[in-house]
Amino acid sequence: MTMPISSSVASHSVDRATFEDLYAGPAPWDIGKPQGTFVAVADQVTGPVLDAGCGTGEHALFFAARGHRVTGIDFVEEALWRARAKAAKRGLAVEFLVKDATALGDWGERFASVIDCGLFHVFSDDDRRRYVRGLAQVVEPGGRLFLMCFSDEEPGIEGPRRVSRQELYDVFADGWEVESIEPSRFDVNPEFTEITFSEGGPKAWFAVVRRKG
Ligand SMILES: C[S@@+](CC[C@H](N)C(=O)[O-])C[C@H]1O[C@@H](n2cnc3c(N)ncnc32)[C@H](O)[C@@H]1O
Repeated sequence: MTMPISSSVASHSVDRATFEDLYAGPAPWDIGKPQGTFVAVADQVTGPVLDAGCGTGEHALFFAARGHRVTGIDFVEEALWRARAKAAKRGLAVEFLVKDATALGDWGERFASVIDCGLFHVFSDDDRRRYVRGLAQVVEPGGRLFLMCFSDEEPGIEGPRRVSRQELYDVFADGWEVESIEPSRFDVNPEFTEITFSEGGPKAWFAVVRRKG
């Protein structure tokens, strides 16, 4: 059975229980490979790498296969079990940790690159700010965040919250430099039929943001 997908809004993030339900069915983002947008910029990603909201680990595993030290975090245990099983099967060493991405500030780790594929757009306004404050602690000066989120050019309101370019510029205004924001498309799991997105895949923004330092 497919579950209705409840969207984040300005006042509420998508909660853990909703994600646990979504992982019980064909999760729309779980395509069994990394999004092509991240594959296309792989040469720009340096280690160590954090995959924030890693889900079942395809981006973390992709960058580990390229030789980087990678840590994946998510707040859904089931997703991480699946990620660890894939890592074992593929003979890749990735640390997958249960962690809330809105509370990264007290974590002692530092990363040169952070991958955010579909995490930012699940957050409320407040959680966006908490997340970015925490990122400022874990991204090395000069390090980069590679972020892909639903775009405000994607029609409708079902699925994740739409994000505008201006919202991205605003949330990264202090201590960060937005190097680029380009239009892109998400690949979606064809088994997920609950919502019809734009032909060619939901419209996305792909942002590269550098931590000043
Ligand atoms: C749209 S999915 C994308 C998963 C993965 N990045 C991918 O591209 O396949 C968003 C992921 O973020 C996780 N997530 C949402 N809020 C989170 C939070 N506050 N802390 C950690 N993980 C979170 C969800 O459990 C889910 O796995």
